[in-house]
Amino acid sequence: MCGIVGYIGYRDAYPIVIKGLHRLEYRGYDSAGVALIDKDLKVYKKAGKVSDLEHFTDGLNTKGSIGMGHTRWATHGAPSDRNSHPHSSGNRRLTIIHNGIIENYAVIKETLLAKGHVFLSDTDTEVLIHLVEDIQKETGLDLREAVRIALNKVIGAYAIVIMSADEPDQLIAARKGSPMVIGVGEGEYFIASDATPIVEYTKNVIYLNDNEIAYIRREDLLIKNIDNTVQTPYVHELDLKLEMLEKGGYDHFMLKEIYEQPRSVRDCMRGRIYPQQGLVQLGGIKEYTEKLKNIDRIIIVACGTSWHAGLVGEYLIEEYARVSVEVEYASEFRYRNPIITEKDLVIAISQSGETADTMAAIELAKEKGATIFGICNVVGASIPRTTHAGVYTHAGPEIGVASTKAFTAQVTVLTLMAFYIAQQRGTITQSKLVEYLTELNEIPNLVEIALKSNDHVKKIAARFKDSTNCLFLGRGSSFPVALEGALKLKEISYIHAEGYPAAEMKHGPIALIDDEMPVVFIATKHSSYEKVISNIQEVKARKGHVIAIVTEGDTDVRAMADYVIEIPQTAEAFVPLLATIPLQLLAYHIAVMRGCNVDQPRNLAKSVTVE
Ligand code: F6R
Repeated sequence: MCGIVGYIGYRDAYPIVIKGLHRLEYRGYDSAGVALIDKDLKVYKKAGKVSDLEHFTDGLNTKGSIGMGHTRWATHGAPSDRNSHPHSSGNRRLTIIHNGIIENYAVIKETLLAKGHVFLSDTDTEVLIHLVEDIQKETGLDLREAVRIALNKVIGAYAIVIMSADEPDQLIAARKGSPMVIGVGEGEYFIASDATPIVEYTKNVIYLNDNEIAYIRREDLLIKNIDNTVQTPYVHELDLKLEMLEKGGYDHFMLKEIYEQPRSVRDCMRGRIYPQQGLVQLGGIKEYTEKLKNIDRIIIVACGTSWHAGLVGEYLIEEYARVSVEVEYASEFRYRNPIITEKDLVIAISQSGETADTMAAIELAKEKGATIFGICNVVGASIPRTTHAGVYTHAGPEIGVASTKAFTAQVTVLTLMAFYIAQQRGTITQSKLVEYLTELNEIPNLVEIALKSNDHVKKIAARFKDSTNCLFLGRGSSFPVALEGALKLKEISYIHAEGYPAAEMKHGPIALIDDEMPVVFIATKHSSYEKVISNIQEVKARKGHVIAIVTEGDTDVRAMADYVIEIPQTAEAFVPLLATIPLQLLAYHIAVMRGCNVDQPRNLAKSVTVE
């Protein structure tokens, strides 16, 4: 949460910082600010979006070839001009931007208040810059050392950048628990929460590690550990294209990302399945093949949409690899005292690779000796660097806050993992593998066909756009799809929506059904088809409106549902990859028709780096 950008070099910093903030706005968008040094240190900040900040700075002096900016997702203090970053020291000579939470800020603040410090905001961040100022004042140490000592005193997570009016040719950046990337140019450096603001200037990046501080001047970069030992940075080459970060003619990133799914699912499988040979290869977990043969249990930890993908994974892994699977909310798992042994495999799923709860769950499982695999989308993020092994989803940057293509890519990886583990454990025959992989290989084409329902789904959206509630029901691996459909609708359209296993309807939710209520069923022709038909009849008997996702050519459900949306025929194992598509489109169109900001829904942020 919160996006940070910094620049030091020979170009005008302001346009680079503002453009970078626009790219990072998915991380938080309740207020924004910049700091620049020309002759003086200038700080401009405003509640609202980055575009509000731009209007505010219109006509003001935005010169300077060193600068930094911040787009905020509020934690401490409501979104307002005064709580926006950057925050400055009492003497206004130092200023800071911060992503994360300083947990012991209240204690530090109390001490500083007693020394006469005056605070202008409610934030934890302001306390940190006052602490640096205080250390400098009391010890006479230079800024580098004062920052290092201050960071040794704080508890919590941070990615920070500090600028000083007295050292106008230096940026100091540091991270612990929140992401930070440094772009390396010729006579210039870039800093950002992820690589997206950097890629158009340089492909060479350094991912700062936890507890590292970077002292950056135009011509040199020194990275030290917080204990003052010099570090040798590794320069990575980015595999990111600028077009991936643009809307490419679509009205919204979310729609673009929905339409990218034939490509993203294909990319996710590329080089990993060999249908004719009945072979799955997952290079990222290859070293653990022996381990996989002997594991007792798999625990999947994740949050939100990634948790839903984990639930699909549970069905697939148990069905094909015959290993018992538990799927846990990372936020709950981390605060229990879970029973985990060295024979357990923990799979952490995260699009961003930065989710604080998922990170903490990994740390806990690691302490208890489990082997940890990651399934992540963002290359080089914290989670893939913390896990023992893993598989990237290769969906490409997901910018819409509501996850779409990342979900189908996660489900694709879990499908591959299920077959991979089954292959290693001998729980699937070679001929079955050939059959399944041949069908899986066709899924990108079938996703393309599923997307053709768009115009029809739009008409259904127009009918239900003013609904206040909506139920999503499915059975088997379509139950997590129902959960995901409900989450998509509620997070971007603000319509109350719930997902349930269809049979659970009778145990409570049926009471909600009246002649206003839309109920979305995933009713494809698979193992629970007849049972789902009974559930549809129960809804119709209570005058609910049924929207059913059916297998193409279905006539039985069509005869009783108000609306049907067809998806192509496929094996039951792959239904989640297809049934999700119309649900994403339904949520998207309803939200657009209600005038909601689908790419930046209220109160949300893409990367949840606070618990
Ligand atoms: C919903 C959504 C969130 C995320 C959740 C976990 O559309 O995007 O529910 O799935 O915040 O995020 P990651 O996958 O980055 O760990």
